[in-house]
Amino acid sequence: MINIDAHNHVRGKSVYLDDIQEIQGTLFALPFYSPVAHAVLECVDTSKAAQMEGIEAVFLHGDIPGENQIGGIVPDEPLFAEKELHFRGQPIGLIVGKSEFLCRSAREKIALKFEELPIITDPREAAQKGQFIVPPRTFEIGSPDKVWSECAHVFKGRADVNGQEHLYIESQGAYAWPREDGCIYVASSTQGPTAVQRTVASVLGIPMHKVEVNVQRLGGGFGGKEDQATAWAVMVALAAFKLNKPVKFSMHRMDDMLMTGKRHPYSSDYKIGLSKDLKILAYEVAHYQNAGAAADLSPAVLERTLFHSTNAYFVPNVKATAFSCRTNLPPNTAFRGFGGPQGKFIMECAIAHAADKIGISADVIQRKNLLSEGDLMPYGQKMEGVLAGPTWEECEKLYGIQRMKEEVKSFNESNGRFKKGLAVQPICFGISFTNTMMNHARALVHVYHDGSVVVSTGAVEMGQGVNTKLLQVACDTFGIRAQRVKIESTNTLRIANTSPTAASAGADLNGKALQMACNCILDRLKKVAEESLGGTNIYIRNDRVISDGEETSMSWNDLVQMAFSKRVGLSEHAHYATPVIHFDKSKEKGHPFAYHVYGTAVICVTVDCLKGIYKFDSVKLVHDCGISMNIPVDNGQIEGGLVQGMGWMTMEELLYDKKGRLMSNALSTYKVPDIYSVPEDIAISHFKSEGHELAIKKSKAVGEPPLMYGLGAYFAIRNAIKAFNPRAHLAFDAPYTPEKVLMDLCKKTVSTSVHQMQSEDAGLS
Ligand code: MTE
Ligand code: HPA
Ligand code: MOS
Repeated sequence: MINIDAHNHVRGKSVYLDDIQEIQGTLFALPFYSPVAHAVLECVDTSKAAQMEGIEAVFLHGDIPGENQIGGIVPDEPLFAEKELHFRGQPIGLIVGKSEFLCRSAREKIALKFEELPIITDPREAAQKGQFIVPPRTFEIGSPDKVWSECAHVFKGRADVNGQEHLYIESQGAYAWPREDGCIYVASSTQGPTAVQRTVASVLGIPMHKVEVNVQRLGGGFGGKEDQATAWAVMVALAAFKLNKPVKFSMHRMDDMLMTGKRHPYSSDYKIGLSKDLKILAYEVAHYQNAGAAADLSPAVLERTLFHSTNAYFVPNVKATAFSCRTNLPPNTAFRGFGGPQGKFIMECAIAHAADKIGISADVIQRKNLLSEGDLMPYGQKMEGVLAGPTWEECEKLYGIQRMKEEVKSFNESNGRFKKGLAVQPICFGISFTNTMMNHARALVHVYHDGSVVVSTGAVEMGQGVNTKLLQVACDTFGIRAQRVKIESTNTLRIANTSPTAASAGADLNGKALQMACNCILDRLKKVAEESLGGTNIYIRNDRVISDGEETSMSWNDLVQMAFSKRVGLSEHAHYATPVIHFDKSKEKGHPFAYHVYGTAVICVTVDCLKGIYKFDSVKLVHDCGISMNIPVDNGQIEGGLVQGMGWMTMEELLYDKKGRLMSNALSTYKVPDIYSVPEDIAISHFKSEGHELAIKKSKAVGEPPLMYGLGAYFAIRNAIKAFNPRAHLAFDAPYTPEKVLMDLCKKTVSTSVHQMQSEDAGLS
């Protein structure tokens, strides 16, 4: 089935937040924020701004009728700053006026008085000063301390990995209008409609049933709208509530980049021990997570880093500790992979370090240590249906990893200026919210008596294609054609208490609930058909009723009409909660994931060793989709995730200065992959597997896992640099921007003369 949004998307007809028809009298809102990263706020003078023609109001924390608090996990984040400013971009108040332009002029007239305080931007410095968001956590299995002495090789090191801007195409925004009796309607670009509803209610001091949140779709979220869409929705709701008028806010890209949190940078210390035959016997790691100035989702992200700190490898002795460090940056948040990618990156650095020192290529160690059936993870889950090895072997079979390595080697032997690098990247990602209580969803299905069907779930469409998958579930369960079914917006009145659409679990959780609701209605319809036709073994296919294998004269429409006339219920609401999963935080053990997703990618790059620039020749991968229910949609997620991961590892560079100011604050300075920088050749193969019962229609979750293939981009570049400059000590510090590549190429001794290099131009410019 073609993505149901494709037709409207390409014609520009899909309605995003800023496309909602404006209600007459709509006002526009604009937050103003801290210009410094840490200070005591002494005075906010809004009088000049408030007096401007066309400015209706300026709101500060004192205007909030309920609680000035938006923290989801830890209540440590005010909607509007009170006495202290904790990061540059922290909202202080909201200007509301007749146009966005007027609000912008008014924003320049806000006068702030503050006393600056010392700033921390580095997580290790925060840790030294005891600035933690939550207490540290440790996952342990076996005892590394007891086995270091048995190891033939032990290596210690440090690795750093930077954050990442979400760069959803649709920036943050919301639109709210008042309804009768103090109720409020909020259209929001959020992954978490219930979080918006709950927070609007508590900030306004009204019950949740007075707040209706509606989400049509998002122009991308990538985790950046799991928690951080809430503040803007609450602000416009506050203004609409106080002024009794519709109020809208759509964020300017540069404000969005400056004010919102990003993927967490990590700085980590590792120690790895291997046996003589290269089995990893022990791994110890301490992760310092740069959480920013408030908790946001950092404690949950931290947890997933620990879950994934050994990636797709079996290690019998592990001690992984993670510290969530409070700094004066915008609160960092969910981003595709949710801390998992950082945990895996550090593990891959440890392996690369060991490989360098032993004098072998990292894939030898990687391959030797892949998870197998029955292995016990540090968090207590016994692994089943393990495809770490099989996807690797399939890669070897399909693409010839060994042959590619030979080709790279011979290329490098005959080239001076250009060097190729190859890396293999296996992945293993757990599916389920790591917080067990979040793994549930609901669906509401109405069959109208004309035979058309409307479906509501808690899933938010953000480009990942969940609505297309839900449509397939409804059509397949009922046995009817797609034209009969409409997937409705995500709305808190129709579906309550939703978890955000996140953790790659949107299609699984909401799809299972939808399947249940459809089956309930179908059972009632079948009974009606049985009574009328006298047959048994009734089902519906292509809108026709089949009885005992024979197509009958009864259509879906006839059956629905008949059921309606017999007063049979044609609506159903169903609830699904993932069975099996559990986790005991006091022991840090359990069975937190419904299942795992696996895959292996081979990445090849060519580095221009004169300029430091590089081009990815190919990414060839084998991915475990289970039994994909929509191959084009899944391949879209694989390609998108891969390229987003490669961008994070290579060209996307977040730069904060010592004063906590974002230097790469626009698309002119923050580079993301474009059509020229994506790999020339991307080959995707689906591993033939059984799927999993807990995956919707055995089609495994695909949203986040492929991002982690991108890690291989870093190590491919690193291998190319090593081919050019084998003696240089290369620090682990992602992303590998061309500037850093150039520095590493030039470190210490350079064997080929610049003169010689200039004579060999292989077409890279
Ligand atoms: N794909 C697109 N096009 N846009 C997005 O915002 N978000 C990713 C992934 N794929 C995203 C995307 C993230 S972070 C998650 S968790 C999943 O989609 C969420 O959707 P799912 O649970 O339906 O896979
Ligand atoms: N993944 C993604 N988002 C989340 C999670 C998770 O495990 N937990 C809470 N939000
Ligand atoms: Mo995705 S980071 O779980 O929204």
